[in-house]
Amino acid sequence: MRKKKESGKGELLPSHIGIIMDGNGRWAQKRGLPRSAGHTVGAANFKKITRYCSSIGIRYLTVYAFSTENWKRPAEEVGALLGLFRQYLEEALRDFLNDDIKVRFLGDVSAFPKALQELIAETVEVSKNRTGMTLNIAMNYGGRAEIVRAAQQAAQLVKDGELSPEEIDEARLSSLMYTAGEPDPDLIIRPSGEQRISNFLLWQSAYAEYVILDILWPDFKPADLDKAIAEYQKRKRRFGGV
Ligand code: IPE
Ligand code: IPE
Ligand code: MG
Repeated sequence: MRKKKESGKGELLPSHIGIIMDGNGRWAQKRGLPRSAGHTVGAANFKKITRYCSSIGIRYLTVYAFSTENWKRPAEEVGALLGLFRQYLEEALRDFLNDDIKVRFLGDVSAFPKALQELIAETVEVSKNRTGMTLNIAMNYGGRAEIVRAAQQAAQLVKDGELSPEEIDEARLSSLMYTAGEPDPDLIIRPSGEQRISNFLLWQSAYAEYVILDILWPDFKPADLDKAIAEYQKRKRRFGGV
């Protein structure tokens, strides 16, 4: 049985929540603003919701910030997003660390500008011994790319004589994912109403519960997170059993 943390009310809290932070562009367009304005408000909301998750006792939070496919967007929009990542990581170094949040990154961050890569490395280093909530920020992340990377690493281990093909099992592959050592997500929330995975945590979400909310990410409030958790708590998870 999956281990879950008890909240103050004695209800079962998901220990790992994933959030696809979607709907920034539509939020801005509805207001006649450029899409980047939606990203600015969405980034501020990321900080608020992260803090809220930490305060209610969530152990792991994974947020989808930028997918391997998001490079297809206009250069101006990608540039605005990279600027926000930089700003928020600088803030994270100041703030989140006081909040006892450990930050990890999922994805190939080597594709980002040098200054951003340095901030990423510094954030990981400074926070690595924190014991509070783990925040995984998925940036230049794609579930398929992650699985390919794990397969390549396993193949290399076999080639180097450190592993036999029979030893490549689910546990071994899990240990080669960016989320190595973490429990799989229990609950994945997608605001914006889209009913798809968009390449998020493909390997890890085998038995995650999905909650789709018809609200755009910049409007997503702590009360919406509570609503998603309440919905999750009503679900009966069977993991293939009865
Ligand atoms: C999510 O919001 C943020 C990123 C993908 C970086 P979108 O920018 O996808 O917003 P919509 O879906 O177009 O409204
Ligand atoms: C998923 O949203 C990626 C992030 C939220 C970072 P997208 O907006 O890129 O997904 P699609 O294109 O609607 O599937
Ligand atoms: Mg979108």
